[in-house]
Amino acid sequence: MPFSPSIKQQFIQIAKAGCVVAALGFAFAGNALAQRSIAEQYIHDMKEGKISAAGADDHVVQELIIKRSIPITYKYINTLMNTPNAFGPGVACTTCHNSQDASKSYRGLDLSTCKGINDGSTEKPKRALFTPGTDAKRDILIRRLRNNRMPLGQGFENSTYTPNHMLVKQWIADGAKNDDNFTKNVLPLFSTANAFGPETPACTACHMSNQEPPSFHELNLTTHAGILLGADSVAKGVDKATKVIIPGSPEKSFVWQHLSEDRMPPGISPSEARDHPNTTILATWIKQGAKCD
Ligand code: HEC
Ligand code: HEC
Repeated sequence: MPFSPSIKQQFIQIAKAGCVVAALGFAFAGNALAQRSIAEQYIHDMKEGKISAAGADDHVVQELIIKRSIPITYKYINTLMNTPNAFGPGVACTTCHNSQDASKSYRGLDLSTCKGINDGSTEKPKRALFTPGTDAKRDILIRRLRNNRMPLGQGFENSTYTPNHMLVKQWIADGAKNDDNFTKNVLPLFSTANAFGPETPACTACHMSNQEPPSFHELNLTTHAGILLGADSVAKGVDKATKVIIPGSPEKSFVWQHLSEDRMPPGISPSEARDHPNTTILATWIKQGAKCD
């Protein structure tokens, strides 16, 4: 057999191949060691005491889903949108937001399809409800599920278009200046009961200084400096305080958002948990890219 390799060559070939196989086997074994299954990792973290035991529902969502980056499927999001009580007591979102035809569906918002959720409100002002791939906590979809309208306890039935609401909105739009209009017309509204709805306490009953307690979010609505300073200036530091007024931009100002936006579903009590586990899951789906598969 003139063309066949010599016995010695054949032996070398076989030995080389064996090495490759052995090396591959080693690599596979290495991989298996590095990549624990998600269940193995969970048990490992339990043994190491890395898992906190706080909360019931929320604990499960945080520890088993969010922290372990399990992909949230659109199928689950679709179920939430179609299910009563999914984010706290109330009818399903899709009873009121089920098509892009604004004559039939509030804000021309279709929460019954993935495209509809991603498109957002189609009625003027048209707007997306979030940016896929980012933290949506301050975006309108999650805001509407978490943020109570102020004054706290204010009902959905009360208008957000009263002359007093418009005074605040216009003041912010005009640059939120510390002028005569502010001192005479705007500032007193924050310390007057029923200024933004019947049978409601003044804003300053709950937001009167930089100390919490008694002032919620360390927010002081009694002076121009306090309002412009913002919330949580003690906890976070003055430089990192949460700005509640963006001069010139009412839509971006938390004071205006809290005055004009009702929490969904309409009629939900402000005492219902603001961080419902399903709201956290919806925000996670958005952060993961709001994918439709
Ligand atoms: C009973 C009817 C009803 C139900 C149920 C309902 N909504 Fe609404 N929603 C409205 C109305 C009315 C508006 C417009 C008035 C307003 O902005 O408050 C609105 C506005 C919104 C907006 C603001 C859109 C924009 O561009 O201004 C979002 C976001 C929203 N709803 C989300 C939801 C979600 C999520 C659910 C389910 C938890 C839900 N809604 C349930 C009636 C409803
Ligand atoms: C009965 C108490 C109460 C009253 C009255 C009240 N608030 Fe609040 N406010 C709260 C609570 C509690 C929160 C925390 C969030 C929540 O529960 O929705 C809050 C949160 C806020 C925030 C968000 C702060 C942040 O860090 O994001 C703003 C802005 C705000 N309120 C403005 C107002 C304005 C303006 C008024 C008057 C129209 C008002 N509040 C009346 C209790 C109150």
